Amino acid sequence: MPRSVDRSLDMPFTVPFMHRLRVTDDVCGADVEVLVELLESGDSGPAKVLLVAETALEASSLRLADCLHRDGSVELIGQPLLVPGGEEVKNTSEVVEQLLAEINQSNLDRRSYIVAIGGGAMLDAVGYAAAIAHRGIRLIRLPSTTLAQADSGVGVKNAINQFGKKNWVGTFAVPWGVINDAKLLGTLSDRDFYSGFSEAVKVALLKDEADFQWLCQSATRIRQRDPSVVGEAISLSCQWHLRHITQGGDPFEMLEARPLDFGHWSAHRLEPLSEYEIRHGEAVGIGVLIDCIYSSLKFGLDPTVVEQVRDCLGNLGLPLWHDSLQPLDRLMVGLEEFRQHLGGRLTITMLQGVGDPIDIHEIDEAAMREAIGQLKP
Ligand SMILES: NC(=O)c1ccc[n+]([C@@H]2O[C@H](COP(=O)([O-])OP(=O)(O)OC[C@H]3O[C@@H](n4cnc5c(N)ncnc54)[C@H](O)[C@@H]3O)[C@@H](O)[C@H]2O)c1
Ligand SMILES: [Zn+2]
Repeated sequence: MPRSVDRSLDMPFTVPFMHRLRVTDDVCGADVEVLVELLESGDSGPAKVLLVAETALEASSLRLADCLHRDGSVELIGQPLLVPGGEEVKNTSEVVEQLLAEINQSNLDRRSYIVAIGGGAMLDAVGYAAAIAHRGIRLIRLPSTTLAQADSGVGVKNAINQFGKKNWVGTFAVPWGVINDAKLLGTLSDRDFYSGFSEAVKVALLKDEADFQWLCQSATRIRQRDPSVVGEAISLSCQWHLRHITQGGDPFEMLEARPLDFGHWSAHRLEPLSEYEIRHGEAVGIGVLIDCIYSSLKFGLDPTVVEQVRDCLGNLGLPLWHDSLQPLDRLMVGLEEFRQHLGGRLTITMLQGVGDPIDIHEIDEAAMREAIGQLKP
């Protein structure tokens, strides 16, 4: 019996993923077991682990290596590999190539683990290398900044910058695990410490009035680095991001709408315009405030919410202006870049109220100029 030939066959399929988030006080010391439990042994023996850390976290990575050696249940590859941190690490492919060479030399395979300790930028670059080596090596992220713990650590993206554009080369890849450790934040400068909470404000504005109000009330204590409030703010933000990614129905951003990028069209443009002098979190704070003002001009967002956002960001120690915002024409190029990055129609999320986002497809330039005008101190 000859087999019939289907000339058109569309078969939908789904792939199950597991997102594993853990919270610890000292994963490089007393809580190392939490990491060890994530490192599954394979049929061919103990888990093979490459530790990678950015230089600011050298001491933590050595402590962790010691603990893992003492534990003895995993096969650690040499000394921790140290790489630079900060946005520079994403501006060339140097670190990605260095990692690929190390992965090759150490004979890591798809069941091996890369445990990476660093800020969002370093984790993005290391994550990209882990995702493309053998089409994917298991990655465990130990985020060391507030931004990476509150947002990017649980993200399913990685990238480096190219052609002067943010995140132009990269992949979607779900990390094997993420461990938010309080002690890793201890050495962070105040500037970097403050900058992560703009993403918490962003996600609370999108999702939940009560969480937004709590952040506004807690902003000053967060700025004072009060550990109990800091842990709660990070957990609030991280869990909203995680819920959105795992339950929002579009983890790999196939659809036009990208609500978690609220405030990001201008932020992503501002970063290269400032030659990366501004931090991602600082740019996001400014971008969120711009889009809140625009939302009040165009979509009825209550002006008192705008003032609350302004006060909250200020109390968190975030800047509310950067000179690279002008001239405005340069900034507006960001809209087209944002559209290109997503593909399809321009789709930007604005707010009608707290917890009440709306997707729009065009920007009224005069109103946007007015919004940015209202930002200027
Ligand atoms: N993949 C995603 O889903 C996603 C989401 C949001 C942001 N991001 C990316 O994350 C990056 C920003 O990350 P970030 O805000 O963590 O900044 P960052 O990684 O640039 O770190 C800021 C500075 O702090 C230093 N540092 C990091 N941890 C430290 C510590 N514990 N002690 C002392 N110094 C430390 C770094 O070396 C750097 O100088 C951007 O490139 C952004 O595009 C990615
Ligand atoms: Zn962001």
